[in-house]
Amino acid sequence: MASPWYIPMILLLLCDGIRGRTLYPLPSKLENKEKRPLQTYRPYNIAHRGSNGEIPEETAAAYLRAIKEGADFIETDILATKDGKLICFHDVTLDDTTDIANHTEFADRKRTYEVQGENITGWFVVDFTLKELLTLRVKQRYSFRDQQYNWKFTIITFEEYISIALDADRIVGIYPEIKNPVFINQHVKWADGKKFEDKFVAMLLKYGYKGEYLSKDWLKQPVFIQSFAPTSLIYASNMTNSPKIFLIDDVTIPTQDTNQSYWEITSNSYLQYIRNYVLGIGPWKDTIVPPVNNYLTTPTDLVAKAHAHDLQVHPYTYRNENQFLHFNFSQDPYAEYDYWITKMGVDGLFTDFTGSLHHYQEWTDATKNQKRAEGVLRKIAHLVSSYERDLSFF
Ligand SMILES: *[C@@H]1O[C@H](CO)[C@@H](O)[C@H](O)[C@H]1NC(C)=O
Ligand SMILES: *[C@@H]1O[C@H](CO)[C@@H](O)[C@H](O)[C@H]1NC(C)=O
Ligand SMILES: *[C@@H]1O[C@H](CO)[C@@H](O)[C@H](O)[C@H]1NC(C)=O
Ligand SMILES: *[C@@H]1O[C@H](CO)[C@@H](O)[C@H](O)[C@H]1NC(C)=O
Ligand SMILES: *[C@@H]1O[C@H](CO)[C@@H](O)[C@H](O)[C@H]1NC(C)=O
Repeated sequence: MASPWYIPMILLLLCDGIRGRTLYPLPSKLENKEKRPLQTYRPYNIAHRGSNGEIPEETAAAYLRAIKEGADFIETDILATKDGKLICFHDVTLDDTTDIANHTEFADRKRTYEVQGENITGWFVVDFTLKELLTLRVKQRYSFRDQQYNWKFTIITFEEYISIALDADRIVGIYPEIKNPVFINQHVKWADGKKFEDKFVAMLLKYGYKGEYLSKDWLKQPVFIQSFAPTSLIYASNMTNSPKIFLIDDVTIPTQDTNQSYWEITSNSYLQYIRNYVLGIGPWKDTIVPPVNNYLTTPTDLVAKAHAHDLQVHPYTYRNENQFLHFNFSQDPYAEYDYWITKMGVDGLFTDFTGSLHHYQEWTDATKNQKRAEGVLRKIAHLVSSYERDLSFF
């Protein structure tokens, strides 16, 4: 028997009443074509660990803030827990950015492990299950930054981070790092025999991240995979064609997997080789323009060399505070952005202050400024013509 027409109507009203709010679809459930696309015509604003200049790094709040402030990409470091779950966390130890020291129940978990040729003592992420880690609260890393958000937020998982990007009301890319892969693969074992890199890529594929740089799939869900370990990137390139960025450390630090020197991996022959696997490099900015006594010296040719091999350059890390700004910039972060974008010609910038980089880019955006100027001219023309009309009465 057919039910009366009003039954579904009543059900609908009831459901809506129970929820107590209007039902809007989540932005991630909208068709991507309804979302504002990623800009691809100017250097990328990469929110380093979220807006960590303001809010404790790698937290949901720091990522949401970065999205609000105009990030093109939200950046994160992926590590694995004892039970093989992937989380967003920078250090291999929990000591500097969590309240682990206050958790007496974990006092006996302190260990010393060798990490990249150095013995480190502390509470290691790899010795805790995800459930245990979620009982911790995180804090701001630097004492000179705002402390008001300390102990308010938890560590988040790789999946939560992805959902934050997908739920944004415009297209926001992700920029996850395969962090300390040698160490993680030593300490974390998965039942299926898979490696950290396998799990990392599987997570991206599960959520639909795929396709070459600027392909249709990529523009829908932009991603850059980053790592300091070239073998991880090469291995990952067998599983995904998503663009990869090879990070380059300080000149004194060899690669963690292949033990190659800075000079080796920035040579023309190496760039020629690695470009088969990666879209670009991510060097520390002070190795490109080395400072002496806090003044910039002559830039190296690394940007030009990378560009000659058709590799993008995304240097790290731009920070607003005095202690990070070289004297040439008169303590003005905009002057630093101007130097790196207009003089050095980089293709993306990792920043702790996404809002500042966004403002700089908006205010110096030629296309936008032209539109603004045209708008002002139109208004003046309108004023003049109405003034002329008024005058014609006399
Ligand atoms: C941790 O313990 C220290 C020393 O007892 C105390 O000062 C601090 O407030 C505690 N922090 C948290 C987050 O509970
Ligand atoms: C780390 O400590 C172990 C045990 O004391 C030692 O055998 C090893 O040589 C140390 N490694 C480094 C890099 O100092
Ligand atoms: C990539 O896959 C091919 C074919 O399975 C294999 O021969 C090769 O060794 C793999 N490369 C890496 C770096 O794992
Ligand atoms: C790495 O390379 C340096 C310089 O060639 C060498 O002295 C060192 O023993 C190497 N380390 C490892 C772990 O192979
Ligand atoms: C930075 O300042 C130093 C010292 O005045 C000067 O030698 C150098 O050329 C400056 N560099 C840039 C890029 O302006």
